[in-house]
Amino acid sequence: MLKNKPIGIFDSGVGGTSIWKEIHKQLPFEDTIFLADSKNAPYGDKSSEEITKLSVKNTEALIKLGCKLIVVACNTATTNAIRTLRATYEIPIIGIEPAIKPAALQTKTGSIGILATKGTLSSALFHATSQEFTKDVSVVEIIGEGLVPLIEAGKLDDPKTIGLLKKHLLPMIAAKIDYLVLGCSHYPYLIPQIKNLLPPTVTIIDSGLAVAKQTESILTAHHLLSEKTTKPLLQFYTNAETTTLQFLLKEYASDITIEKKVF
Ligand code: SIN
Repeated sequence: MLKNKPIGIFDSGVGGTSIWKEIHKQLPFEDTIFLADSKNAPYGDKSSEEITKLSVKNTEALIKLGCKLIVVACNTATTNAIRTLRATYEIPIIGIEPAIKPAALQTKTGSIGILATKGTLSSALFHATSQEFTKDVSVVEIIGEGLVPLIEAGKLDDPKTIGLLKKHLLPMIAAKIDYLVLGCSHYPYLIPQIKNLLPPTVTIIDSGLAVAKQTESILTAHHLLSEKTTKPLLQFYTNAETTTLQFLLKEYASDITIEKKVF
């Protein structure tokens, strides 16, 4: 039965597991298959054509594995490839976009920050969203240069990571932002480090919960919610080393499988 098939989730690497955690919390009985395309990470510095090609490859792999819905748990892949994916495949496809709208609506200082990859910040979809919601707000856009490879290597507290974060956040602090939008699914893993560097008045927004809620609502609308009430099958595949996935998912170790796979 299609409704009992898994939800497919992919990311340029391990960061999308931050989205997977929210989806699993929201939909605890759903089977999931997660593809971490770490061999090709980071996507953020690649051309839109390359990002689209990789996103098509990942989507096809998940469809072949029998998934009923795809979540693109990568901002760079969403902003560059989601239109092509939706135009090519019939299966429901959910993306993750930077949460600019809630930040722009709630700011009191009139200044918000967005930390994302070059690929996201230069995409047409990001520009369109940003223009629509930030007319009366000043937006400090910063490319999180160098952060994704360090997160892929599990170096969350490395002095190099902290040094880069300091450099990226400095212009935002100077601009007196009160909301920081995390526009890359890898960055939620750096929230404790970011909090240590920002004034306590700054609220950090990521899109994980919104994506999980959207996944539930699309499954409901398509009559695709699983009827299973047993322990779900939670599979993780990476085309690189499994070490960082194991580290980031350690609290789920007894419930999940992590394997290396060619895709
Ligand atoms: C990257 O691979 O460069 C980052 C992925 C993202 O934008 O979420």
